[in-house]
Amino acid sequence: MQIINHPDEMARWADATRARGERIALVPTMGFLHEGHMSLMREGRARAEAAVASIFVNPTQFGPTEDLARYPRDFARDCAMLETVPIDVVFAPEASAMYSADAETWVEATGVTRGLCGPFRPGHFRGVTTIVAKLFNIVKPHLAVFGEKDFQQLRAIQRMVADLNFDLEILPVPIVREKDGLAMSSRNAYLSPEERERALALSLALRAARDRFKCGSCCVEEIVKVAKRVLRKTPGVEIEYVEAVDARTLAPAHSLAAPILLAIAARVGKTRLIDNTVLTP
Ligand code: PAJ
Repeated sequence: MQIINHPDEMARWADATRARGERIALVPTMGFLHEGHMSLMREGRARAEAAVASIFVNPTQFGPTEDLARYPRDFARDCAMLETVPIDVVFAPEASAMYSADAETWVEATGVTRGLCGPFRPGHFRGVTTIVAKLFNIVKPHLAVFGEKDFQQLRAIQRMVADLNFDLEILPVPIVREKDGLAMSSRNAYLSPEERERALALSLALRAARDRFKCGSCCVEEIVKVAKRVLRKTPGVEIEYVEAVDARTLAPAHSLAAPILLAIAARVGKTRLIDNTVLTP
């Protein structure tokens, strides 16, 4: 497994790989890998001759009061995990190599980022789409893999790819959960044992809403109410939002006739957690 730090070297590798007629799969991450990331790696690995994982804690997607400085990192452990897939190249650039001091260009999907996490994390999605566009230009993948855990991020990237004619396929991968239902996340490392217990409320709320949905004859409002009720029962879980939106456009959903995304963001202690499920009629 090759480790490449500089964008120029990464681009040369991509050119040479494409010149040999090989397909490139890219899995962008911020590192501190877990089984959720690994599921994306395996999907990418299976679909291309060359598999690239990027590890870059992207400063432009963190707000001024967010956790950029303390974001968990363990590059050696990440590489050991990636070897097992096996991934061919780890692209791990320095921030200074990715962003020049005089950079002033952003890529932003405006509609799909208006709701859900958008208002709570101003500038976040603009940072995500900008870095992902840059990674696409450097790594030149035929295929890029993203998790449905960050459903709104996935939609923003799909929008960007369609709107800006990026010539690649986006492969969405389902959420990987712990045995008890907690969605895997690098940020789960912040949780104390009690907080870890409370964090279960998110997946339990989604499951309760899904059960209510399966029973039939209910409305969007009722689904949201069921999820909120479960969250409110757990002390120490502070709801940021519980929303049901059209799973395709992320616009507010008024009926359960088309697939809806039920999405939750909540704070458990200082840690902000998100989770979601898609309800398909
Ligand atoms: P990160 O949070 O490291 O996640 C990298 C990828 O792993 C994303 O596509 C995310 O949706 C996926 N992922 C995380 N947890 C998952 C889980 N439990 N199940 C399935 N997939 C999961 O998302 C980012 O990094 C960044 O915003 C990035 C896209 C790399 C841009 O900086």
